[in-house]
This record gives sequence, structure tokens and C-alpha cells, in this order.
Amino acid sequence: MILVTGGAGYIGSHYVLYAHQRGEQLLVLDNLAYGHKESLPSDVPLIVGDMGDKSLLDSIFTTYKINAVVHFAAYAYVGESVTAPAKYYANNTVATLAVLNAMRDHDVRQFVFSSTCATYGNPSYVPMDEKHPQNPINPYGESKYFVERILKSYDHAYGMRYTALRYFNAAGADPEGSIGESHDPETHLIPLVQQTAMGKRDSISIFGTDYDTPDGTCIRDYIHILDLAQAHALALEKMRAGELSAIYNLGCEKGYSVREVISACEKAANRSIPYQEMQRRAGDPPRLVASAAKAKNELGWKPVYEDLEEIIQHAWNWETNRKY
Ligand SMILES: NC(=O)c1ccc[n+]([C@@H]2O[C@H](COP(=O)([O-])OP(=O)(O)OC[C@H]3O[C@@H](n4cnc5c(N)ncnc54)[C@H](O)[C@@H]3O)[C@@H](O)[C@H]2O)c1
Repeated sequence: MILVTGGAGYIGSHYVLYAHQRGEQLLVLDNLAYGHKESLPSDVPLIVGDMGDKSLLDSIFTTYKINAVVHFAAYAYVGESVTAPAKYYANNTVATLAVLNAMRDHDVRQFVFSSTCATYGNPSYVPMDEKHPQNPINPYGESKYFVERILKSYDHAYGMRYTALRYFNAAGADPEGSIGESHDPETHLIPLVQQTAMGKRDSISIFGTDYDTPDGTCIRDYIHILDLAQAHALALEKMRAGELSAIYNLGCEKGYSVREVISACEKAANRSIPYQEMQRRAGDPPRLVASAAKAKNELGWKPVYEDLEEIIQHAWNWETNRKY
């Protein structure tokens, strides 16, 4: 059985859907700080609790036959991490350590970790591969970077095998529309633009229109949520086959500007979307694009939904028919 921490969140719930459809036995641990129990299939058990709770972890590992952990649980608001770093180090680093210690104590040695391109900081070149220097520029990125360092030590000392997946921008929704993104507060560009299209917000802010990019706005790499899910399944498959620990970028290897995202959302919504041009935000690099060649070559990862319009169409189908 796979323990999925944060499995009721946006990315975790799509992994649960994907793995459940492929016959995996899953157990979700989520404190529902940001997750939704409605996002889980009715026959996947959910334990509502905190991943930093040692006695809860001991009882989970004693009660269930867990042989791997897929670890999504974390706080993921970059801006908040700057003003409330303690919250981020305590949850993303220290509570993750509790999960790793419980795994070590209960002899569970396969771990898939939601890392992030935020561990790189400002790019010194694009597309960014896994050898790009890691100099995170905010506590969120640091809190994840520390976990990567801990994983390396735990592998060396305790033989704990891990796959750290450094995602770029997760986007889209289940193509069937059963689940999707539902963050409160929402900070991600695509849902914000789509909520503006629906009249739930007055306008979308474009932060910086004078970057050295073709249309002056920032460029990001959007990866479909089910392609992320596929990579987690492949990572686990590799570890089950005895492969060593590894780190992979996950992105589409294509960058889209803020204006391109707004245009694609206008097309999906069939209406124009009001926007405001604002000053640049501190700490926003002009261009973040992944090289995902390593995941393709070594994991055999084959992204299915690489077209921005398709990603946005799935997100729009969800946004206009949201169940939670
Ligand atoms: N969304 C992105 O674009 C993106 C990019 C890179 C990395 N990530 C990482 O991917 C993971 C999932 O992100 P998401 O967008 O689905 O976020 P999310 O907030 O939707 O999901 C995180 C889940 O973890 C749960 N959680 C948090 N702390 C917990 C704790 N102490 N105990 C138990 N449950 C806890 C939350 O309730 C939530 O359901 C995170 O680790 C995030 O840092 C996300």
C-alpha cells in the first residue's frame, strides 16, 4: 500500500485518481488545511491528521502495510513563506523529517518527493536542467531544498531510496472534469485568469510588461497535472525495480508568457478578459523553462497533454463546473 501525504490537495488528488485507476492500494494522510475530501475516490481511505504527528505516523505504519510514501504535503505559498518563514520550515522541512523518521523506524524505504523549480532560484541559464545550481531565493524554496539535502543523507545512512521531482508550474485538471484546482487563497495564474473570465474577479494583474521576452511579460513552463501524476507512478515503478535514488525536473520544456496564457484563456472562454498592467514583482525571473530530458530518457516519461490550449481547456471545464 502507498501512503500519499497531502493526497487531498490539487496535485495529490490527481495522483490518487491516476494511481487508483491503475489498481494501486492507496491510503491518504491529509490535515485538510488546504485539501478537499471530495477530491478523493470514495473507496480510497483518508486519515485526517498531521504528518508531523509522530504517534499518528507510528499507528499508520503499524496498522497498514505501507511499502512506499508519495509525499505531496506541504505549504506552497511563496509570498507567505517570506513573511511567515517559521510556518514553512516547520511544516515543509521539520514535519517531513517526521515522515522520513517514521519510514526509517518502520522499514519503509521508497519515497517520492514533490520538490520544485523554486529550489533553483534565479536561472543562470534556460532551459534549466537538474545540474543547474540551487540557490533558492525564498523560504518556500529553501524548505524544499533542505528536504532534498536530508534525502541524500538518509539514502546514504539508512538506505532510503527517493525520487525528488522538481515540478515547474502544475496546471490543468482531470480531463473528465471530476476534480481540479481549488485553492483558497488562489495565487496561480490560470485559475485567476479564468475566475476573472467568469466575473468572479474584476481583472487580472500582469506584473511587469517590460521584461526581455517577446511580449514583455514573464514566461513560465506549465505542466499538465496528469502528466505529473504519470511521472510519480513511473518513479515508484523504477524504485520498486531496485533503481537508485534520482532527481528529475518535470516541465513541458516550452515556455508561455502571461499574455499568451490570457489569450488562450480568452479562446477557451470565448470572451475577452480584463487585465491591468502593473509594476514588476520582486523576485520574479523573466523566464523559467525546464529541461525534462532526464525524466524522458531515464523514467520513460511521456507527457500526454503538452498543448497549452488543451491544458487551459481542461482547467476551464473544471472551473466552470467546480464541485468544491
Ligand atoms: N502547484 C504547483 O505548481 C507546484 C509546483 C512545484 C511544487 N509543488 C509542490 O507540490 C505539492 C502539492 O502542491 P499542491 O499545489 O497540490 O498544493 P495543495 O496545497 O493543493 O496540496 C497540499 C496538501 O497537503 C496538505 N498538507 C499540508 N500540510 C500538511 C500536514 N502537515 N499534514 C498533512 N497534510 C498536510 C494540505 O491540506 C493539502 O491538501 C507541494 O509539496 C508543493 O510544494 C507544487
